[in-house]
Amino acid sequence: MKWNDTYIFINKGSCTAKKLIRFFPDWKNFISSGTIELIKLNQDKRKVESWNHNLFPPLILKSFFRKFPLPKNTLFPLIDENKVWIIQNILSMNNIPVAQPIILIKYSLFSSIIVMEKLKGITLIEAVRKGIVNPDIFFVIGQKFYKMHAIGITHGDTKWVNIIVHIDINNLISINFIDLDGAKLYKNKHCLTFEKYKAKDIARYIFDAFREEIDFTFIKSFWAGYTQAGTIHENFKEYILLHIKSIIQRHSINLSSFEIKSLIKNL
Ligand SMILES: Nc1ncnc2c1ncn2[C@@H]1O[C@H](COP(=O)(O)OP(=O)(O)O)[C@@H](O)[C@H]1O
Ligand SMILES: [Mg+2]
Repeated sequence: MKWNDTYIFINKGSCTAKKLIRFFPDWKNFISSGTIELIKLNQDKRKVESWNHNLFPPLILKSFFRKFPLPKNTLFPLIDENKVWIIQNILSMNNIPVAQPIILIKYSLFSSIIVMEKLKGITLIEAVRKGIVNPDIFFVIGQKFYKMHAIGITHGDTKWVNIIVHIDINNLISINFIDLDGAKLYKNKHCLTFEKYKAKDIARYIFDAFREEIDFTFIKSFWAGYTQAGTIHENFKEYILLHIKSIIQRHSINLSSFEIKSLIKNL
């Protein structure tokens, strides 16, 4: 589909998408009509911005570039925005909590923007530090991870800053996954690579729990949520341990790999 001269993909189920296209003559006009606030500028100049307009719900604009030569020290040299868009749509359609994808704007061969719902809330790391989460939330997060993995998707960057926690007026807590840049979709759910990437997701999540030195009951609850949701591979804990060891080598943390091994065993 085209929006003026620009190729776009729209989430057909999104009323906001249809309204934006009806309301603004082209995407540049859409972007410049809102108040833009920079949320994050990455090393490789990619931006995450929030867009506000009094007639629309607040939105997030995440930009992607596929420019060559790549900037120095780029951690994720080739993020494929088509893949991110497709995976975010699949997750959203399967009721796995992610920000609803709205429009993918491809404004040049190498540059694009994903427009998505702006979630309310704070990151899981902030929520834990504020003491507003309990082991039940960790159980639910474990379940949601299992559901995501069960449809053949790994998240790829399960740091706590990539989980948004929101408490509504009735004190109900909801969680959402963001940042699907490293997500992968597996057609063959029985391959070992998939098992290892699932273990990597779980390892990265548990690593933040160790680093934040939270009570072990939280981690146990997360693990219970994950494992009670369905079956896991017989060597799954070993794969998790291998990933945690390699993460430890890259970060400083107060636990030895021996201690971590016994904690994982006791899950
Ligand atoms: N859909 C969203 N709703 C609310 N905040 C978001 C959303 N997407 C991103 N953010 C905010 O922007 C930050 C960076 O976004 P993220 O997708 O994690 O980018 P990066 O790849 O740079 O880590 C997040 O930590 C969060 O604060
Ligand atoms: Mg992130």
